[in-house]
Amino acid sequence: MDRTVVLITGCSSGIGLHLALRLASDPSRSFKVYATLRDLSTQGPLWEAARSRGCPPGSLETLQLDVQDADSVAAARARVTEGRVDVLVCNAGRGLLGPLEALSADAMHSVLDVNVVGTVRMLQAFLPDMKRRGSGHILVTGSMGGLMGMPFNAVYCASKFAIEGLCESLAVLLPPFGVHVSLIECGPVHTAFQEKVQNGPGAALDGVDAQTRDLFSRYQRHFEQVFRKAAQDPEEVTEVFLTALRASPPALRYFSCERFLPLARLRLADPSGCSYVAAMHRAVFGDEAAEGPEGAQTEAGAGALGGPELGAPPSAPQ
Ligand SMILES: NC(=O)c1ccc[n+]([C@@H]2O[C@H](COP(=O)([O-])OP(=O)(O)OC[C@H]3O[C@@H](n4cnc5c(N)ncnc54)[C@H](OP(=O)(O)O)[C@@H]3O)[C@@H](O)[C@H]2O)c1
Repeated sequence: MDRTVVLITGCSSGIGLHLALRLASDPSRSFKVYATLRDLSTQGPLWEAARSRGCPPGSLETLQLDVQDADSVAAARARVTEGRVDVLVCNAGRGLLGPLEALSADAMHSVLDVNVVGTVRMLQAFLPDMKRRGSGHILVTGSMGGLMGMPFNAVYCASKFAIEGLCESLAVLLPPFGVHVSLIECGPVHTAFQEKVQNGPGAALDGVDAQTRDLFSRYQRHFEQVFRKAAQDPEEVTEVFLTALRASPPALRYFSCERFLPLARLRLADPSGCSYVAAMHRAVFGDEAAEGPEGAQTEAGAGALGGPELGAPPSAPQ
C-alpha cells in the first residue's frame, strides 16, 4: 500500500521537529515524511532524534524550504519523489513581542511574511495538485493568539487571526475537491519559539512611555507564570495532529488544550467585545488595572468566567 506522503515546514525545532519524528517513527510505517527546514545546517538535532527514535530508513527526508522564498518552495516540491503530497503541514512561524510603537518595520514585515504570506505561498504551491487529484489534507499550526487578542502580541495575533480567516475560507470551498483544512490550535508549548521571538525581552523600549513599559513588565511576569503552569510538551501537541490526520472527515479546528476555550467562548457570547476585553485585561494586569467599558465587568467579565479557567491566568498562548 502507498505510504501517506507528508510535507512539514519549520522542522528545525519544536512542533515541526516532533511531528516529523512522530510520523516517521509511527509503528504502522505508513508515512513518508519530508521534513523541511529554512536552513539545512540546522538539521542536526532532527537527525540525532530520528536515530534515537529508531525511524526506519526511508521514512524521513529533509529538504530546504524557506516559506519566504517562492523559488525555494517550488524547488522543494519538485524534490518530492512520489510526485504528490497527501498531507501538507504549514507549521513554520515566528513570534513578535513588545509595545507596538517599539516594533521595527523589518520585524513586522518578516513576521507577517512568514506567518501569513508564507502559508499562502505553501498553499499556492501544493493546493492545485491536491484539487486535481481530488484528495489532500492541509494541517496548519494555529494559535489561541489567532482566536483572541493579547496585549503586546498585536502583530503576532494579527498574523494568526489572518490564518484563521484564510483556513476557514478554504475549508468552506474545498470539500467538493476532497481536500480538507484543519487548524491545530495550540496554547503555550515548550519549544524554541520564545528564544526565537523577535523583539524578545531585551528589546529596545526607548521612546516608549513609562506606563506602557510598566504594563509590559507586568505582562512579562504574567506570561512567565502562565507558561510555567500551562505550557505543554510538543509531544502532547503532535498527538492532536495525529487525531486530525485520522479523522474522516476532519474538522476545521482541533485544540491542543481546553484551558483557554472559556475566553474564546466569551468573545462569541458578547460580540461587542466588551466582556472579553475586560476579562483579558483583568487577567493579565490585575484587578486594579481593569477599566473595561461600562457594564462589561459586571455582565460577563472575569467574575462571570469565575472558576478555575480564569483563576489560572489565561493569556499566554503564543
Ligand atoms: N510554542 C508556542 O507556545 C506556540 C503556541 C501556539 C502556536 N505556535 C505555533 O507553532 C508553530 C511552530 O512553532 P514552535 O513553537 O515549534 O517554535 P520553533 O521551535 O521556533 O519553530 C518554528 C519553526 O519555524 C521555522 N521558520 C521560521 N521562519 C521560517 C521560514 N521563513 N521558512 C521556513 N521555516 C521557518 C523555524 O526555523 P528556524 O529555526 O530556521 O528559524 C522553526 O523551525 C508556529 O507557527 C507558532 O506560531 C507555537
